[in-house]
Parts: sequence; C-alpha cells; structure tokens
Amino acid sequence: MNAIGSSLPRIDGPAKVTGTAPYAYEHSVAAPVFLHAVTSTIARGSIVDIDTTAAEMSDGVLAVLTPWNAPRLTDTTDGEYCVLQDLTVGFRGQPIGAVIAETPEQARHAQSLVRVQYDVHTHDTTFRTDAAGMYLPDSANGGYDTTTEAGDPDGAFAEARTDGVTVDGWYTTPEEHNNPMEPHTTIALWDEAEQSLTLYDSTQGPHGVADTLAPVLGLSPEQIRVIAPHVGGGFGSKGAPHAHNVIAAMAAMTLPGRAVKFPVTRQQMFVFVGYRPPTASHIRIAANHDGGITALVHDAYSQSSHTKEFVEQTAVPSRSMYSAPHRRTSHRAVALDVPVPYWMRAPGEAPGMYAGEVAMDELAEACGIDPIELRVRNDPSVDPESGKPWASRRLVECLREGARRFGWGARRPAGSRREGDALVGFGVASAAYPHMINAGSKASIRLREDGRLGVQIDAVDIGTGTWTTLTLIAADALGCLPEQIALEIGDTALPYGTVAGGSSGTSSWGSAILAAAHKFRAEFGDDPLQGAEVTAESDTEPDDNYRIHSYGAHLIEARVDVHTGEITVPRMLGVFSIGRVVNPRTVRSQLLGGMTFGISMALHEESVRDGRFGHVVTQDLATYHFPTNADIRDMDAIWLDDIDQRATPMGSRGAGEIGNVGSAAAVVNAVCNATGIRVRELPIRADDLLPHLPDIREI
Ligand code: MOS
Repeated sequence: MNAIGSSLPRIDGPAKVTGTAPYAYEHSVAAPVFLHAVTSTIARGSIVDIDTTAAEMSDGVLAVLTPWNAPRLTDTTDGEYCVLQDLTVGFRGQPIGAVIAETPEQARHAQSLVRVQYDVHTHDTTFRTDAAGMYLPDSANGGYDTTTEAGDPDGAFAEARTDGVTVDGWYTTPEEHNNPMEPHTTIALWDEAEQSLTLYDSTQGPHGVADTLAPVLGLSPEQIRVIAPHVGGGFGSKGAPHAHNVIAAMAAMTLPGRAVKFPVTRQQMFVFVGYRPPTASHIRIAANHDGGITALVHDAYSQSSHTKEFVEQTAVPSRSMYSAPHRRTSHRAVALDVPVPYWMRAPGEAPGMYAGEVAMDELAEACGIDPIELRVRNDPSVDPESGKPWASRRLVECLREGARRFGWGARRPAGSRREGDALVGFGVASAAYPHMINAGSKASIRLREDGRLGVQIDAVDIGTGTWTTLTLIAADALGCLPEQIALEIGDTALPYGTVAGGSSGTSSWGSAILAAAHKFRAEFGDDPLQGAEVTAESDTEPDDNYRIHSYGAHLIEARVDVHTGEITVPRMLGVFSIGRVVNPRTVRSQLLGGMTFGISMALHEESVRDGRFGHVVTQDLATYHFPTNADIRDMDAIWLDDIDQRATPMGSRGAGEIGNVGSAAAVVNAVCNATGIRVRELPIRADDLLPHLPDIREI
C-alpha cells in the first residue's frame, strides 16, 4: 500500500465547510465569560494611576485586572510574558489591564470606562540603519551566529574594482504583520480543585504553549492542558504563546470555574502577537567579468524591542546560497519602543533572499549575463559555509526546468517589450530553505474496538493539511488504507508533539509515527489483537555530515501600465525540490500560498508605524493591503521527482516556507525587466515607477 504520494482530499474538509470543526473561540464551554484588554495609549513611560471605578460598576463586569491586583507571575524574565506585574509601558497598545464580563459587549464597553494616567516619556519607534542604538547582538533568531567572515572580502573588492564587476545596493523590507484568517484566541479555564489550567488556543504547537507558560505561571507543564484540533492559519505568530495567553490564564485563576474567552481583535493582531521587523540589507558583490562571484558581503539591520530582543536572521541565507571564496555577513539590531517582533513565514530567508536575489539580478545586468545562467555559474558544489556536501541540491534543475516550461527564451532586454499600454518583463529568483526537524515528537498506535488503528500525536493542523498528511504517513507505514486510520491531534493529552514551525511539522511528526508504526508491526505483526498498543519517539535526526536544504525557482511575468504604473503579475511558476511529496494536493496549496505571500510582500504589504504616536496606523484588513483573487492570475507550482532519505525516513522535506522565499525578488526583477526601473525598497508602489515611465504625451 503506497499511501504516501496520493492526493487525498482533506479529511477535515467536510467538518470545516459545514462549520462543525471548532476553532479556538468556538469550543463549547459552560457559562463562558469574556475578556477585553485595556491597552496603553502611550509608547513609553509609566502608569501613575488606573481608575477602574466606573468599569467595575458597569453591567455584567466580574473583574478588572490591573498591575495592582493581577496574580503575581513566577518567572518574569521574559519581557513579553511579564504583563500586569509593574507600571512600565514599553510600547503603544501594550496590555496593561483586562476587563472580564458576562458578555463580550459588556467587557468592551467597560474597558472604555477605565481611566489611566501616565508619566509620559519620549519614545522612539522609527527604524533607521544609522540609529545611535544599533548594536551587534549575541545571536540571531534560530540561534545563528551574528557574524561570519571567510577569506579577504575587502581585498577581493579592491581587485574587482580594477578588473571586474561590483554591485553595491541597499534593499529594504517594511514592518509586516501576520494576519491568519483566525486571529489568536484563547479560552482559559482554571480548575481550583484539580489545580489545573485548560487552554483552548489558536496555536502552532500545543505542547510548546504548555511548556512555555508553565514556569511563567508557576505551574508544571502537566498542570496545563492545551487543546487545538483546528487552527485557522498560522504563519509564525502562533509558533509561541504571547501576552494574551498569560492574561487569559490570570483571568481564569481569578475566576475559578469560569471559562474566560479572550479573542484578540484584528487591530490587536498588529500589537500583541509579533511581526516581521523592518529590515535593511546592504549587499555588496564582487565578480569576474564572466559573472563568477569572488566576494559577497551581506550586512543586515533590523528592528528589535526594548521589551524583548528579537533579531531577524536576514543575512543567514547569503552564507550558503552561492559560491564566493571571500565572504562576510553580519546582523545588527536596534531596540525601539515597539512591540516584540517574532516569526513571520520564513523569518530571515524571506527578507534576506529578497535582498540577495535582487542583488544577483543586478549582477547579471552588470555582467551582461542571463540571470539564470549567472545563478548556474555560481552554484556551489559543497556548502560554502561549512564545506559539507549537499544532501541534495537541485537548484540548477529547478531553474532550468522552470525556464523551459515558462518560455524564458522570450525574455527581452530591460524596458524593450511593449504590448499596448503595458511594459512586459520576465523575472527570476532562487529559493532555498533549510531542512529542520525537531527532536522529541512521540506517537502512539493502538488497535481500537471499531477495528481501526488509532494514531495519536500532539501535532497541529494550521490549515496546512496535517490531518490528511499524517493519516497518509500512518497508512503507508502500517500497510492499510487511509480510512482505516483514526488520527487524533491537537491536544497536549496526546503524546508529545513539536511545533508547526520552520517547515518542520510533517518531518518531525511523521518520523514519530513511522517509529511507532515500525514498533507496532514488529510487536504485533499484520494481525494485531485487541489491546495492541505502542508508543515510540522519533529517533530521526538529519544526517549532520550533509547540509540539507530545499530549493526552488520562481519565474514571473510582470506587466506595468505605462499610464498608471499599476503592476500586475499575469503569470507565475514555481519549480521546487522538496524531497518526496506526501500529499500533492495539500503541498501544492502550501506552495501556491507561499508564492501568493511573495507577490503580497513585493506589491502590497506594509505596516505603517506613525512615529508621533508609536502605533501601526494600517491596523486592519482594509488599510493593510494584500492580494485578492483578482491579483493572483495564472499561478502554478510543480516539483521535481525527488526523494531525500537523508532528510526524513519518509524521504520528504518541509514545504511550508520555501514558496514565499525569493518570490518577492522575482517580482521586483520582472518589474525591472519590464521597465528598466530598479526598485530596492518594498513594497513597490506605482509612485516608484511613474516618474520614470515613458512620458504619456509621447505615446
Ligand atoms: Mo513559521 S515562521 O516557521 O512558524
């Protein structure tokens, strides 16, 4: 039975379209109460007084929490989780109190009656690379070294300036906010007799929520149960709990026996749950006339927060992407009076590869070499950073296959193809994403009374298709049909599961299911009897003798209206090498979603922070732009026939983030090919193009 590789429709589909799959807010709990957060209206300073008198007397109000009466936390070292413990205000919109009432309307109304007095300090919320506080952190997100250096980059640049080609550019990405369809939500219920906390949470990792919150709340992880059978999207922000989880737990402990529902509002999504910080990349490349790179320098800058450090690992992809004997990378950050940045789909790779892949396009132009050919010429035979061999680097095949299918040969020199009112161009960019697998996932398998095989693991389906892919993996390993598998996920009462982050979910959980299936078959053969049950932990670790990445190539046609500067992307093709594909149907969805994310990053998304007040003014889905169906035209994602046994026992690698890595660069490069205009700051606006487009009077 070869279940892996079959396009099984989502097994949770019927429940979702009939509205019976409960998302966090929808879990049926007895007599719920509702929480609305009180948030700061200043960006920096301290609270002098909070007058809750009117709020407390308001209809339906059960409790008003403030720093004066909120439960004390046990571990206050994490600035993000340390809420309602002191009077400091670190950013505008910071939760400084909470109203709990019988209805959501009562809670929200009462919150508006809370009066706060502040001692206001001057704030700084404006990111700039020359900020006085710019510093070199100890490490970047993911535990990466902040700096690397090999060879003599400065010498190589001196040489290239005499005889060679150099590129020197600054590439920037704005602040961007995760906005899954389902905002973060927690229902918290404290059982005083049992001394246990139950959270129905919208999360990418239930066990991670329990493990992280336990020390903060002074509980053991076993005292916290987190339930998340269905999650309406997660792009990183749900990869860890945030302050709202802590506040919901505090409220539940204040009102034992009452289930406290804390739905984060859409506007609060722009404050409470992390975001991609603005980044600036200074990239310099030195090359021979034939395009062979001799030196590559990537100095990255990003925004962190006084409340807690987060350093986007923007320069990391430049360490392994292309050959360059002389190389330097660095990360600097500046702490501002802003909310804490966090993961957003492909942290590091998304902004870093955007910068690097646009710089490669500029190098191709400077050398007069086709941009695909330039990438092929600089494809390294081993990992330039570690010297280790690649497990499977098939980037060149992705590029070549993409070129063939896309009709890349029809590409014309920049600014030279005009069709009616449109300037037309082709653009390309590479994609790469490291293979990650998290240790610790466990799965259990047992023969159920109904004759089906019950498979249990605290995995989570954030819309990615986990319900379906893990069913396929289990059926494959147990040699049965998918309908004979009864999967249970999304609950810390199940065996340990690691986070759906870093494109590691299927790899980590699938390996655990495989380990359990092998044990099950070894112990019980093909005809297990009632009572047959095993639990096993994944023993899979990626082979450390190799560097393991996924790869891809994005090819894009862009059209720019000569009168308005409007950019459209009528055609986009992604060709990926992601190992064996467990479920083509759901993988294709993820890749297309990632590519859409790239178009969004290139043309639409920008959180505009108003330096006068310190908040994001584009804090709703009307003013925070992203593509609609009308913006996404002919888009396709395909993959090479692939299997990578060094990555996972399934032969698969992650596919969650590779789709949005490099895709924004391909858009920028296509726009440049169409118009001859090189934009380096995202998002591209019509304003960037209009002054340089052919004069309308000449048309
Ligand atoms: Mo994703 S940003 O690794 O949760």
